[in-house]
Amino acid sequence: MGLTRVVLGILALVTLCDPSGRLVVDAETEKIDGGGLINLGNRERTWTPYMRLSSPLSEIQSITSYFSFRTFDPEGALFYGDTNNGEDWFVLFLRDGVPEMQIGKGDVLVSVAGGHKLNDGLWHKLELQSQGKFVVLKVNDHRELAMGLHSNEPDTQKEGFIRLALGGILVSEKKLLLPLNPLLDGCVKGGHWLNLSTPWDGTPAKTAMPCFPNIKAGSFFAGNGLAIFNTSDLLGVDPKEERIIITVNTSSTTLNGTILSLQSLQSQSTVLSVAEDTDSGMMILKVHKFDSTESTPINEKFDKDFISFDVIVKKTSVAFETKHVSSESHLGLTVEGDYSSILAEWNEGMLLAFGGVPEDGADSGSDYLEGCLDSIFVQGQKIDLDQAFFKDASVSSHSCPV
Ligand SMILES: *[C@@H]1O[C@H](CO)[C@@H](O)[C@H](O)[C@H]1NC(C)=O
Ligand SMILES: *[C@@H]1O[C@H](CO)[C@@H](O)[C@H](O)[C@H]1NC(C)=O
Ligand SMILES: *[C@@H]1O[C@H](CO)[C@@H](O)[C@H](O)[C@H]1NC(C)=O
Ligand SMILES: *[C@@H]1O[C@H](CO)[C@@H](O)[C@H](O)[C@H]1NC(C)=O
Repeated sequence: MGLTRVVLGILALVTLCDPSGRLVVDAETEKIDGGGLINLGNRERTWTPYMRLSSPLSEIQSITSYFSFRTFDPEGALFYGDTNNGEDWFVLFLRDGVPEMQIGKGDVLVSVAGGHKLNDGLWHKLELQSQGKFVVLKVNDHRELAMGLHSNEPDTQKEGFIRLALGGILVSEKKLLLPLNPLLDGCVKGGHWLNLSTPWDGTPAKTAMPCFPNIKAGSFFAGNGLAIFNTSDLLGVDPKEERIIITVNTSSTTLNGTILSLQSLQSQSTVLSVAEDTDSGMMILKVHKFDSTESTPINEKFDKDFISFDVIVKKTSVAFETKHVSSESHLGLTVEGDYSSILAEWNEGMLLAFGGVPEDGADSGSDYLEGCLDSIFVQGQKIDLDQAFFKDASVSSHSCPV
């Protein structure tokens, strides 16, 4: 069963991690130059930092770290540091595009957020400086945030080790004041980390991906994997409208493979998929009935120059409507039938996948998507692939190459 394979894959992923989500696999770690061009994205959902470094405190000569940073992602963990084996820690992350810093020292937690949104896809210079009891964040050489913390506990920080991490944290995420999605599709370059020149340790089992030289906002599928949502985590069927609407916008003319698929967990069958047909180079829609004995795939081809399409599921029909660059005309196809069970199962939980069919390409005859989806809306709500319960590491959630 294809679905079983996916579920087993996800279980395998889970068993690689301890309960705090940290990888416990013991593999050879790769060394990473902290000053290089580093892609923190392309990861599965995990708090494990992309890379980490440990150094004796006695070797720290500088109190400043600075680096350039570029992202379209509104949320994720960027830079982390701790001493006393995680007793005293600091983290810088983005939430809603805005930088947020948090310090934990013993029982005390301090958090501060503010400043300009940084997720505009441009390179920004970030500088973190420890100034006595304050940590100061400068963005593009302007003082943007400052956070102070005084503790009467004796300062033991002259000995021991300092640990640094990028793209994750080394303490339990439960220590954060507010929950956060750690995945950050962003790149860092020109980093100077407390003037340490030692190479960093890469996380085992990560998929190293280069940074695209130029990016635009969107979700990029490299043709190697997909992102899967449980529909019970998305907006439910509006009782008044009684429909499900999925909108996909793209400016890509070279899409290849399955754009989306909807799968029933109960009957373990794909009920709907939109893909590019490799033979004709045209778009193809497949709608299956739930009852497999009645299953008659309805294949309909559309010109490929669409800029957006809607899939609309109602009790008595599935409609597919496209908008095209070349004409004002609005192509539409409606498949009549009894689809009320999709509406019912949607609220209970189905698998909505972008970039493929969960039961993998081999037996379903569909391939993983290659190309950029500019934006995806489900029930009118914009979808963030970082929120998927499974995302293949090859999928860039917030950036496409230009
Ligand atoms: C940083 O390191 C370089 C080379 O190791 C050294 O020349 C410089 O003085 C250091 N700067 C600080 C502030 O420690
Ligand atoms: C996506 O497509 C829909 C329908 O064509 C359109 O209304 C919407 O403005 C588009 N959104 C973006 C971000 O391009
Ligand atoms: C689409 O995929 C097919 C088969 O994998 C490949 O031959 C073709 O070159 C691809 N087309 C594009 C535009 O990437
Ligand atoms: C989807 O969500 C439902 C309801 O929360 C849950 O019962 C089901 O196990 C989930 N399915 C998967 C594959 O996680």
